[in-house]
Amino acid sequence: MIRIMFVCHGNICRSPMAEFIMRKYVKQNNLSDYISVSSCATSTEEIWHGQGNPVYPPAKAELKKHGICADGKYAVQLQASDYDKYDYLIGMDTMNIRNMKRILGNDREEKIYKMMTFAGRSDDVADPWYSGDFTRTYNDLDEACRGLLEFLKEKIS
Ligand code: 4NP
Repeated sequence: MIRIMFVCHGNICRSPMAEFIMRKYVKQNNLSDYISVSSCATSTEEIWHGQGNPVYPPAKAELKKHGICADGKYAVQLQASDYDKYDYLIGMDTMNIRNMKRILGNDREEKIYKMMTFAGRSDDVADPWYSGDFTRTYNDLDEACRGLLEFLKEKIS
């Protein structure tokens, strides 16, 4: 099993969107027995007394436009122990990567990636938090997830 962990700041917008988009592609390609997908936050901004907030309504609405249901997901924080539990720990932007390394350590097995590298790009996933542009975020994530799927297919075959 290849285990993927998507990571963003709050785990209510970008990383859960990535999780549900990726899971759709994994299912469509009959790879559910080979690839598992999760998401989490670097911060505790969206976690109160141990209970995480659900996916942010506009992020949920954007997913719904594409026939994807994001019910049942609640924000959780990245743990140091996740480094050994996952094969690919994928941050959405440069600040996520910095915070991931603070939590996980120095990435001795080179498991930490920035999302858009799977689309051959060096920029960050468009952050909808201030722009409100969830469509742009969806398009970035969709492009990266398709690239990640092709990358993983090569590993599996
Ligand atoms: P996300 O979006 O990291 O894509 O889930 C954000 C969620 C919460 C905050 C910032 C970004 N916040 O500052 O609380």
